[in-house]
Amino acid sequence: MVISGGTDGMGAALARHYLTAGDRVTVIGRSRGKFDALVAAVSEEDPSALARSRFIEADLSLVADSRRVVDRLLAHHERIDALVLAASFIRQRRETTAEGHEASWALFFLSKYLLVTGLAPLLRAAERPVIVNTAVPGARADAVDFEDLETARGFTFQRSNMQQRRANELLGILAVDDIPNLAYITWGPARLVRSSFAGDVGPGMRVTAAVLGRLLGQSPEAAVDPVIRIIDAPAPGRAAYRGATELPLGTGDRHGSDAARLAEAVEKSL
Ligand SMILES: NC(=O)c1ccc[n+]([C@@H]2O[C@H](COP(=O)([O-])OP(=O)(O)OC[C@H]3O[C@@H](n4cnc5c(N)ncnc54)[C@H](OP(=O)(O)O)[C@@H]3O)[C@@H](O)[C@H]2O)c1
Repeated sequence: MVISGGTDGMGAALARHYLTAGDRVTVIGRSRGKFDALVAAVSEEDPSALARSRFIEADLSLVADSRRVVDRLLAHHERIDALVLAASFIRQRRETTAEGHEASWALFFLSKYLLVTGLAPLLRAAERPVIVNTAVPGARADAVDFEDLETARGFTFQRSNMQQRRANELLGILAVDDIPNLAYITWGPARLVRSSFAGDVGPGMRVTAAVLGRLLGQSPEAAVDPVIRIIDAPAPGRAAYRGATELPLGTGDRHGSDAARLAEAVEKSL
């Protein structure tokens, strides 16, 4: 199993669960210290967790790092049964990476595109491969502006968020076309989760998240319970969930052509 963003929040809850269950887990994240602490805690109960865990340090908002992660996984793994995409760093404002990409688009979409397409050979080697992409489903079908994927014009947090969420649904169309038996799930929690809420956000958003999280939020462990059930019994094809509730997928001719258009535009931009 490979988990991006597996050092904190829901990704870490999944890493703990699957290490405890005896699986081999590779975590991608920025903080080796958090990973070491997670593995040390699991190893207290089961010392074999140490040998079954790997960490790849990477800044997934950088295309070069995402490509390096793919190369490393291709070199050291025979197959991937489950890929969880849960790296998250919320930016309320538009920022540009050192490579010139809009930072939220780079982290929440480009890195996922590179991991999903680049790791296809390892996912194909699994009997029942599954990808859980924690991009909350349900964005409008026209949320992607193909002429302005990196929201250079009229950036708002809302617009950028909707665009990457819709793009991650389209990525599922490309992935299930390419990888036989793949289950591709876009998933969001049913309600707020008391995670690390990593990001560069204003005090308003931070305080709201902290207060609401304490009052109404659920623990990362409780939030990922439905994800574990999906990963353990994957059904080939695409699906979308909020918590444990399956949502209808959008249909129509436009979806397939939008997915192809997205892939073409992204490849040009990389
Ligand atoms: N929390 C919620 O209520 C909520 C609601 C809806 C959707 N979601 C989605 O659920 C997923 C998980 O969210 P969460 O709140 O559980 O996460 P979180 O606690 O904020 O943790 C974020 C994780 O992403 C990693 N990360 C951040 N920037 C990175 C980068 N540039 N490169 C590589 N790794 C990076 C962090 O690694 P380090 O700590 O090592 O830096 C950490 O492991 C996200 O996709 C989020 O959008 C969450």
